[in-house]
Amino acid sequence: QWTTSSIVEEQVQRISEQIGDGRAICGLSGGVDSAVAAALVQRAIGDRLTCVFVDHGLLRAGERTQVEQDFVSATGVNLVTIDARERFLDALAGVTDPEQKRKIIGREFIRVFEQAERDLKAVGDYKFLVQGTLYPDVVESGGGEGTANIKSHHNVGGLPDDLEFELVEPLRLLFKDEVRRVGLELGLPETIVQRQPFPGPGLGIRIIGAVDAERLETLRAADLIAREELTAAGLDRSIWQCPVVLLADVRSVGVQGDGRTYGHPVVLRPVSSEDAMTADWTRLPYDVLERISTRITNEVAEVNRVVLDVTSKPPGTIEWE
Ligand code: XMP
Repeated sequence: QWTTSSIVEEQVQRISEQIGDGRAICGLSGGVDSAVAAALVQRAIGDRLTCVFVDHGLLRAGERTQVEQDFVSATGVNLVTIDARERFLDALAGVTDPEQKRKIIGREFIRVFEQAERDLKAVGDYKFLVQGTLYPDVVESGGGEGTANIKSHHNVGGLPDDLEFELVEPLRLLFKDEVRRVGLELGLPETIVQRQPFPGPGLGIRIIGAVDAERLETLRAADLIAREELTAAGLDRSIWQCPVVLLADVRSVGVQGDGRTYGHPVVLRPVSSEDAMTADWTRLPYDVLERISTRITNEVAEVNRVVLDVTSKPPGTIEWE
């Protein structure tokens, strides 16, 4: 029987053996897997690990701080943050097609990350690349399951063919719940370890229409309110995730304060799921829905309507794009 501490011990041992006195790079996404993989490698090789975090400007409120402050103070890891917000906004300007957005974000991400790798290689002999690959990822990519490609998934740190690094994948034998336990064992904060899934392309695929800085601000504000109220209601563990989607090209008439408004709707998409392959819409309590709706329409000027997505997956996917 594997205990969490024996998994940690064994992995730290293996990583030390693999890397020897070499140096490693790890891309952090803000998600659980890359954080736990990095924390394990940090345990094994200390400051010979450097983490790279790309701020693509499509993050939710507080996510950059969570990595820069909470993760760093829990692990003491070396972190390089790359502010690529302008670059992504420029590349996405005017693009409305979901697949095109995904491809642009994936492509820009790899370019930025590869540049960071080159910069690091120029100052030290970095031979290893840490990836938070889980057991289900291994099975899925080798399995040839023959399903249609519905969305091109962008995973932070997508691998080019001519990879110049040796991979370090300390989570390859673990399932998500084990990864969470390992994270806690390593002293990572709950905010990181219990984080709900969030797509690599971030808020870019939750704005229906073209992405720009102002729309991102609007969505970020609405999303933060929804998350605050769901957390306050103690619902974080009972829902899989709750995307908030801005219908940026839709307007409707409203009345707010003393006058007529012509604002945008946001959609709440709370779902329950085991593995995201299928999902049911979550029956959130009406009083929670009411608080979210009231706060968003009071506090986010551009939004005058909050609507609820009551579609299961299938037929609807979890994300709108
Ligand atoms: P869909 O929308 O396909 O989403 O029902 C299933 C789950 O995957 C997440 N998701 C992504 N995760 N990169 C990721 O790392 C992506 O490009 C991506 N697209 C969707 C989504 O949030 C849900 O949990």
